Amino acid sequence: MGFFSLTHQPNFKMSSSISGFSKLSKAEKIQWLRLNYLPDGSHKILEQFWSSDNAFQNVFENFSENTVSNFHLPYSIAPNFLIDGTLYAVPMVTEESSVVAAASAGAKFWLKRGGFKTRIINNLKEGQIHFNWAGEAQILEAFIRTNIESFISACKNTTSRMEKRGGGINTITLRDFTAIEPQYYQLKVQFRTADAMGANFINSVLEELADFFSVRLTAETNIEPTIIMCILSNYTPDCVVESMVQCKVSEFDDKNAEYYTDKFQKAVRIAQIDTYRAVTHNKGLMNGVDAVAIATGNDFRAIEAGAHAFAARDGVYKSLSECTVEGGVFTMRATLPLAVGTVGGLTRLHPLAKLSLELLQSPTSEQLMSIIASVGLAQNFAAVRSLVTTGIQKGHMKLHLSNILNEMGASESVAESAQKYFESHTVSVNAVRDYLNEK
Ligand code: MEV
Repeated sequence: MGFFSLTHQPNFKMSSSISGFSKLSKAEKIQWLRLNYLPDGSHKILEQFWSSDNAFQNVFENFSENTVSNFHLPYSIAPNFLIDGTLYAVPMVTEESSVVAAASAGAKFWLKRGGFKTRIINNLKEGQIHFNWAGEAQILEAFIRTNIESFISACKNTTSRMEKRGGGINTITLRDFTAIEPQYYQLKVQFRTADAMGANFINSVLEELADFFSVRLTAETNIEPTIIMCILSNYTPDCVVESMVQCKVSEFDDKNAEYYTDKFQKAVRIAQIDTYRAVTHNKGLMNGVDAVAIATGNDFRAIEAGAHAFAARDGVYKSLSECTVEGGVFTMRATLPLAVGTVGGLTRLHPLAKLSLELLQSPTSEQLMSIIASVGLAQNFAAVRSLVTTGIQKGHMKLHLSNILNEMGASESVAESAQKYFESHTVSVNAVRDYLNEK
């Protein structure tokens, strides 16, 4: 292992900065943490979360850098999702109590009312070559127009395999920003990436294309562009899915269905007109989206960034969902961009991501878009339904109660009696503490 004695390491003298941390072995990294940051004995917690299977542990350590342990999150199932006529038991990874319960309740409600119907509005991803060029815009435009075919051919090395899977470069357009930033242009490249999310593919093609573009433009015009950067965009307004649910108001099992569906519609409308409410409303929807994205090994940060930008596409941040109650029919739909993959990235490397995709019956990327959007809609539906009926805290605190009881070390029998007691009392950390003290 090449372990060392700490007292003989001059770099390790109670200092909180270090160079070459990444080059240390895992044991050395932990030793350094013990010396500089960790409370005595707490390194054992890091060790507790290692897998006993070394090969398995190695897989995890290679996902990221400077790994010293694994961070577990609950892996849950929301059953009864009827989406476009197929039933799914959807895997969800989230730490927030009541998210999976809410998604499951939403799924069960719509199971008996026709389920979720989805529509892929488009499935194009986008990347950009950002550059400065000192020549005239018309010359550049003409150059791009006459060279499109050669641009596409220049990337064949990277695109040919993707083309066999139905993907590749879709369009290349020039965007002129010189009115706001001198000499700044952009080549906007749209792609189809088949079942991959496509980030690596897009970035590779962009870099290859930028080299070719730069040499060819210089040769033809004698003015060399400065390539500033090449990168995909996580804003994907052309990779959008819609999920929709619909039923008669009379099919709501609430006593006063008309009153509550009217309140429901107003609650969604408020999220259309008030940004403060819209952000929370969309956060609820994204609770479901992120949980499935994580469970399937997709990049939830990219999805989050793209979804919130899409929510603000009209210049005002708004709800990602809409709701109408017309002629006695309740309709709710969520529309959002979802750049996801079912191949590549973590999808096959992480054993649970692989399993999640198997659970979902090995979907295409478009089917996964439909599933994720529907879970988001179910989540949003369940949250708004609670808000306009019982209020959110009742269900939320019930689930939160078991976490508080666990944290306070309540025995199984005391926890059971506490659950009964709090059916008719308000849950709070203090109330639970008082209850346990009296036991
Ligand atoms: C909590 O994680 C999500 C909610 O706040 C969503 C909403 O308010 O619609 C309950």
